[in-house]
Amino acid sequence: TYVVTDNCIKCKYTDCVDVCPVDCFHEGPNFLVIDPDECIDCTLCVAECPAEAIYAEDDVPAGQEAFTALNAELAKLWPVIAERKDPLPDADNFNGQAGKLAELER
Ligand code: SF4
Ligand code: F3S
Repeated sequence: TYVVTDNCIKCKYTDCVDVCPVDCFHEGPNFLVIDPDECIDCTLCVAECPAEAIYAEDDVPAGQEAFTALNAELAKLWPVIAERKDPLPDADNFNGQAGKLAELER
């Protein structure tokens, strides 16, 4: 499966959802997650993310391992998002800031 990681937080560009053939993205207030039970590993979303926040489960960067379980957990709680929308207002400022997990809203 593929995993949304730290750099999506406070950006939420949503380009990823437009290309997902199985609508497996779920939306929270300032982050998206992928439902691991639905993702078919097509890889299309990876190149679409302006924040380069999406990784194959086996390639999640060191220090971000917790995001794999977090995607699975939050996908069960948050609604599906199937259409792109505007990014969060300060997305370009937060793109690239490290360690945004503490600012994740549920
Ligand atoms: Fe959707 Fe494909 Fe990305 Fe999985 S890898 S979340 S199926 S676009
Ligand atoms: Fe997040 Fe990138 Fe999608 S910032 S919303 S994973 S396009």
